[in-house]
Amino acid sequence: MTFPDLRFQRYRQTPALRDFFAEVHLHSRDFIYPIFIKEECDKPEAVLSLPGIYQHSLHSLIDEVAATVDSGINKILLFGIPKHKDPQGSSSFDGNGIIQKAARLIKKHYPNVVVIADCCLCEYTSHGHCGIMENGCLNNDATLGMLKKIAVSYAHSGVDIIAPSGRMDGSVAAIRLALEEAGHPLTPIMSYAIKYASAFYGPFRDAAGAGSVFKGDRKHHQIAPSQRREALRQAMDDIQQGADMLIVKPGMPYLDMIRDVRERCSLPISAYQVSGEYAMLKAAAKAQVFDEKAAFHECLLAYKRAGADTIITYYAKDICQQLQ
Ligand code: PBG
Repeated sequence: MTFPDLRFQRYRQTPALRDFFAEVHLHSRDFIYPIFIKEECDKPEAVLSLPGIYQHSLHSLIDEVAATVDSGINKILLFGIPKHKDPQGSSSFDGNGIIQKAARLIKKHYPNVVVIADCCLCEYTSHGHCGIMENGCLNNDATLGMLKKIAVSYAHSGVDIIAPSGRMDGSVAAIRLALEEAGHPLTPIMSYAIKYASAFYGPFRDAAGAGSVFKGDRKHHQIAPSQRREALRQAMDDIQQGADMLIVKPGMPYLDMIRDVRERCSLPISAYQVSGEYAMLKAAAKAQVFDEKAAFHECLLAYKRAGADTIITYYAKDICQQLQ
């Protein structure tokens, strides 16, 4: 059948018909909201490169979680900004560290909110690298020992899901084993399986308080933008190591990779619309080149169309308010 019997415009004549035929939908349950918590700050501090995003104190955190829950979201991703940083990042596994305190507090007030915590050393090290440095090089295997301690400490504090983001080889297996041994066999690991060495993480460095100290790049452990097959091998290896769910990050420049992993495995997939993507949309909206709400709605639909089950985004509250 073809024209004139076939007319695609029959599907598009009213909002109700367009909704009827929509192949993917956005729902508040799709979204994960990232929250930054800073030790020893008493009021929320705005992150200048991420309009609308704050570094929260333990006090303002509860209001932020309340607002997040009000907008219909029940999943948050925590990033901690400690007061004390050292070359080993030892405050990351302190039982009274910032994430540990935040997780206990959230769980006390909002036991049904799913708390995911980023498991990486870069927020905790004085040099801003994702692991233990030796003669100017990152020591992968020494870093695994630290990641095990962080994961166990998070799980003890009530964190529901551990998200290793540093791309250390073997980190998923190491964390899985440590969680088993520490009596947390049911804590899922959400691996940043496909995480590119990306310029789009720029504003995150401000938000995580690592902007000024970090010198260098992460190209020794994060994957190059040119790599598709290597990224897929890495994702498949994370699955073998015991990952329960996978993240593709950044989202928008790597929609092809979301589709690729979707077709090759049956694990839940989360797309991360990272800080640079958010900042770019904000800047374009400020310059009045497009309607911001329509633009982020379109981007988020694209992640779902590509095959993501959930989306980590700084727009989570905005999109959910729009959907309500
Ligand atoms: C590492 C981490 C980063 C992001 C999330 N976890 C930064 C990096 O790998 O350099 C970036 C997130 C974003 O840009 O929004 N802990």
